[in-house]
Amino acid sequence: MRALVREAKPTDYAAITDLATQLVGFQADREAAFDAALRGPDHDLIVAEMEGDLLGFAHLLTYDDVTHGALAADLLGLVVREDRRRQGIGTALLREIIRLATKRGIGELHINTEPDNEAAKRLYVGMGAGMVGVQFEIELSSEPGNESGSVRAGD
Ligand SMILES: CC(C)(COP(=O)(O)OP(=O)(O)OC[C@H]1O[C@@H](n2cnc3c(N)ncnc32)[C@H](O)[C@@H]1OP(=O)(O)O)[C@@H](O)C(=O)NCCC(=O)NCCS
Repeated sequence: MRALVREAKPTDYAAITDLATQLVGFQADREAAFDAALRGPDHDLIVAEMEGDLLGFAHLLTYDDVTHGALAADLLGLVVREDRRRQGIGTALLREIIRLATKRGIGELHINTEPDNEAAKRLYVGMGAGMVGVQFEIELSSEPGNESGSVRAGD
């Protein structure tokens, strides 16, 4: 039997947050982010389901890229339940993400993963992704009062 890939719905929260915890390795209250992803016009949140069991999810965020003057999108999450991996579910989710991104008119779909994530890298390359660039990350403090309105070059 093949998994059904469909849009996420509110009752998928518990299963999706469990899968997200598996991916990032920590628990979090993801409810606000989940609601925003369900409702936001720039989000696609999809799941793979079989006989009522949620087996995986994928999340795409679309945005206007001023530099390129085009729509771009980031794949923010793709996780398949550990006991159901290697059965084509990741491929089915990514195929649907590519279909949705194409329908939105997106020029570039960005995907990133850890350098040693061989499963993900093989999946992406197998779907036609090329390896480009290097990703950097700056961890920011989100405490109120740390924000500044403007900066001068050289400060
Ligand atoms: C990456 C992930 C989503 C793949 O999902 P999946 O359902 O197992 O993938 P598929 O069964 O569709 O596999 C498609 C292809 O990807 C590659 N692949 C998948 N898992 C692999 C593994 N463990 N080792 C090597 N290649 C692998 C293979 O080329 C595979 O094709 P094949 O089975 O015909 O050889 C899944 O392993 C996962 O959820 N990992 C943890 C979360 C994660 O790392 N997500 C990506 C973060 S960016």
